[in-house]
Amino acid sequence: MFKKGFIFDLDGVIVDTAKYHYLAWKHLADELGIPFTKEQNEQFKGVSRKRCLEILLEWGDLTVPQTQFDAWLAEKNEDYLRYIETMTASEILPDVPKVLKYLQEHNIPMALGSASKNARPILKKVGLIPYFSTIVDGTQVQKAKPDPEVFMIAARELKVAPNNCVVFEDALAGIEAANTAGMTSIGIGQKEILTEAHFVFRDFTEIELNFIKELAEL
Ligand code: BG6
Ligand code: MG
Repeated sequence: MFKKGFIFDLDGVIVDTAKYHYLAWKHLADELGIPFTKEQNEQFKGVSRKRCLEILLEWGDLTVPQTQFDAWLAEKNEDYLRYIETMTASEILPDVPKVLKYLQEHNIPMALGSASKNARPILKKVGLIPYFSTIVDGTQVQKAKPDPEVFMIAARELKVAPNNCVVFEDALAGIEAANTAGMTSIGIGQKEILTEAHFVFRDFTEIELNFIKELAEL
């Protein structure tokens, strides 16, 4: 058993893919004649692809047969994947590698815990696969955040007790999931939104390695 384990959400924590999700949803929304703003896109953070489309259709007051629903879901994802295709390591958010390298140097196991079914290809594109002992993504979970399932699987695979895990999250649903799992939650974003997080930082440039050292009990 390792004493401490660190779990990272992907979108909005490691890479800024929210802008690509926004563009792909906006494209579909325009096609369907449903207004969709950047503020509305905030509500899609941490939410599964399927649930996002359900919400969009609710906003547009549209009910459609399953085949149409599935076709739009696929269309949005194909659009999103076209943006992902162009991603490089330059899109890793500032100072994320600093923290990953520090933890790796001190043999602290790390997991990815993401709602995205595209998590693996994205991590591969930006070259971060080698840092993670395990990757838990949207293909493995039955229950979406705020259910703690994704983080509980990550803790089990890291062989670290949940209350010894530290989670980095940008979505309120993710913070709730981490808290329910009994983990230490670190919010990345606005204090006003991530009110339930144990600690909040605007981004990784605000996180000092001494803070990580204390969390990891090094
Ligand atoms: C989350 C994002 O990480 O993954 C959400 O914050 C997204 O915005 C969800 O909807 C699912 O992603 P994907 O890649 O499976 O469509
Ligand atoms: Mg996120």
